[in-house]
Amino acid sequence: MQSTHSLPVDPDRLHAIAGKWGTPTYVYLEDMIRVRCQLLQGLFPDFPVSWLYAVKANDNPHILKIIANEGFGFDTVSTEEVLLCLNIGTNPNKIFYTENNMTDAEMHDAAKQGVVLNIGSLGRLKSFCEAYPKSECSIRIKPDISDGHHAKVDTGNQDSKFGIRLDLLSEAVSIAGEYQVQISGIHAHIGSGIREPENLLTEIEVLLTASEKLDDLKFINFGGGMPIPYKINERSFDLNRFAEMASDRFRSFLGEMSRPFSFFFEPGRWVVGPAGILLTQVNTVKDQGRKLFLGTDTGFNHLLRPALYDAYHEIVNISADPDTGTQNYHVAGNICESGDILGLDRTLPESRPGDHLAILDAGAYGMTMASHYNRRALPAEVLITKEGFHKTIRKRKTPDETVDEFLNDTGMIRLDE
Ligand SMILES: Cc1ncc(COP(=O)(O)O)c(C=O)c1O
Repeated sequence: MQSTHSLPVDPDRLHAIAGKWGTPTYVYLEDMIRVRCQLLQGLFPDFPVSWLYAVKANDNPHILKIIANEGFGFDTVSTEEVLLCLNIGTNPNKIFYTENNMTDAEMHDAAKQGVVLNIGSLGRLKSFCEAYPKSECSIRIKPDISDGHHAKVDTGNQDSKFGIRLDLLSEAVSIAGEYQVQISGIHAHIGSGIREPENLLTEIEVLLTASEKLDDLKFINFGGGMPIPYKINERSFDLNRFAEMASDRFRSFLGEMSRPFSFFFEPGRWVVGPAGILLTQVNTVKDQGRKLFLGTDTGFNHLLRPALYDAYHEIVNISADPDTGTQNYHVAGNICESGDILGLDRTLPESRPGDHLAILDAGAYGMTMASHYNRRALPAEVLITKEGFHKTIRKRKTPDETVDEFLNDTGMIRLDE
């Protein structure tokens, strides 16, 4: 068996895309993104729950437009992400901006743009209140709950840099009160790729309890973090069960409420992760004595998750004859570091240079974390539209264009000019 996780798309399509666009290329499935948005929106039919998409997971503007078209707002974390969302026509009141060590200039930009600013420290709250008295904002708290698929994305634990300590909530209230600023929202995000749904329920409880201290509150944002299975036998997060349990709590909370109120979630990975594939080509098959390497034309510059988080992505050889024998390979990238391994110990059919590999579940935190390390160009991005067309949504630059852009940005000129 070469793969335990099935391709979400016909391999012929991937061959056609590799033939036309070359590799490395990210391929996204519009249909799947839409269906996933709709599934989320159906989870809480009886409650005022709205969905924001965490732009950092995949910020290609074509993808953002699809998700906006499904009725999502956006969760952003930088001025640049805000500008991107505004640029695709999003109403500022559907953009939630969670700051993290923001500058004064960024704060003024956010205020000017009219987005919902979510503040994560007392210092920033004070400077916001001084600059914008009689306005309103949201605050992020640190719920002291630990979760996430890796320590590097465990954001709500006791030692996390994010959010205002719960025991400082009264201080936040008094700072806001001093300047007649309404704290209209409260937010937390415990981590990305949550392992235990109970932790998200506990976080909901923490936020509902904290909300009792906030008289002007209009909404609670419970963050994102819904995980996806990267391996076939991985236990998947039972969203329906989670929604049932959360609904019980929402019912009792809203029962006591006499004013309009809303809840938000802000997932990224769950929406786009399974809808993206990184297509790459095998360039080298190399026996290093104890290890057999498949060398590809991509690397951690294009998909950082394996190197950064030891993350697992299923890899499928879409070119090899599945009836040939299999081999155990280490699938390696072309970056000049020994840590550039995309898949360790993978059983794949006998593979040859020229074969195409599909790296699955690469739609989230793939292209957005890509870099020009080793000065290589970024991958192309192709969307399989809901009508079944293949559409370029980002072209790959040639080596010449890549170097030209770099020389231009650094103020250098080409020696041959
Ligand atoms: C504040 C915030 N909200 C939402 C998300 C989205 O997380 P995920 O993609 O795991 O749903 C993140 C990701 O780190 C985040 O930092």
